[in-house]
Amino acid sequence: MSLSEQKIRELLLQVEDPNLHRNITIRNIKVKGDYISLKVALAKTASSEQMEVQQKIVNVLKEAGADSIGLRFEELKEEELSIEDKQKLQPETPSLLSEHSQTKVISIASGKGGVGKSTVSANLAVSLSRLGYKVGLIDADIYGFSIPAIMELEKRPEIKNDKIIPPEKYGVKIMSMAFFSEDNSPVLWRGPMLGKMLNNFFSEVEWGELDYLLMDLPPGTGDVALDVHRLLPSSKEILVTTPHPNAAYVAERAGKMARKAEHEILGVIENMAYYQSIETGKREYVFGRGGGQAIADKFSVPLLGSIPLAQPGEHGESGSTSIFGKEESIGKMYDSIAGHAVKSLEMVKA
Ligand SMILES: Nc1ncnc2c1ncn2[C@@H]1O[C@H](COP(=O)(O)OP(=O)(O)OP(=O)(O)O)[C@@H](O)[C@H]1O
Ligand SMILES: [Mg+2]
Repeated sequence: MSLSEQKIRELLLQVEDPNLHRNITIRNIKVKGDYISLKVALAKTASSEQMEVQQKIVNVLKEAGADSIGLRFEELKEEELSIEDKQKLQPETPSLLSEHSQTKVISIASGKGGVGKSTVSANLAVSLSRLGYKVGLIDADIYGFSIPAIMELEKRPEIKNDKIIPPEKYGVKIMSMAFFSEDNSPVLWRGPMLGKMLNNFFSEVEWGELDYLLMDLPPGTGDVALDVHRLLPSSKEILVTTPHPNAAYVAERAGKMARKAEHEILGVIENMAYYQSIETGKREYVFGRGGGQAIADKFSVPLLGSIPLAQPGEHGESGSTSIFGKEESIGKMYDSIAGHAVKSLEMVKA
């Protein structure tokens, strides 16, 4: 059923901006047949409040017969907020970012895309949890979020007392930009939003006590990587590279950036290091050799491990196609890398 713009505006009078306790600000409505596209401005985006509003809008419109809804959010401008509004928006101190936080943040970086950074981040997070640590994983790849897919996560966050409760899988608490995108709407984030959203992943999310928080950075050395460096001065880094000497050259840029930000590099993980024949056990170095060690030497850090080309077998974490189980040889490699990273971190601290 197609709803008129007038009707949509009426329906949305039921939806409040949870921070300001007044009607949401509608910037734009477009109705094209069954498809409604909406742009809404809120006091706080990428927040538990946005999630609430998001769900409410979708519910209200679907109940009224809408089929397909595209939703975009932006933050209200400074001049649109009254003094009272601003008082209602007092920022909370993000506890995970406080100096006293015991949580160690590890950012996982690579110079370029497609080297398996997200796969490595997810497996490393699962390994740390297997080793008995409390672990969180942030998918900071805003455009190309992939962690929920890699972890085969079906749950979405819940909201309790205005906080986002991250869903958990394989013992790892997960936050992803994917949670802020409605099924059929593209998420468009503009420059300054990136840092803000990242900040909210700390201040709006009830992580509980964490030993380690892993951040899967977007590939390259763009805006988000810069924001992470700025926001998390005490973050440590792990560089992921393929074994090809050229790939390693690219990873070097990510490493240099980490160094510039005075982020300690814990070590290097070489991914897709070789292919091992199941029949003969013979290794073939299909993507070249030595890239991981070269980067490690370059920054005088350890090569934490080399992961071959493979997919989890039948012993993968409950049949997962990306997460290796603890009985699998690659699962054990990840556990060993995790142990190695923990040790490396302790040495950095000492
Ligand atoms: N060791 C491996 N063996 C086989 N396939 C792998 C391995 N590591 C990653 N892959 C596959 O390679 C592809 C890219 O991996 P992934 O998404 O983890 O890379 P990424 O560096 O995070 O990429 P992006 O730049 O898009 O964020 C995926 O299909 C993944 O399953
Ligand atoms: Mg990725």
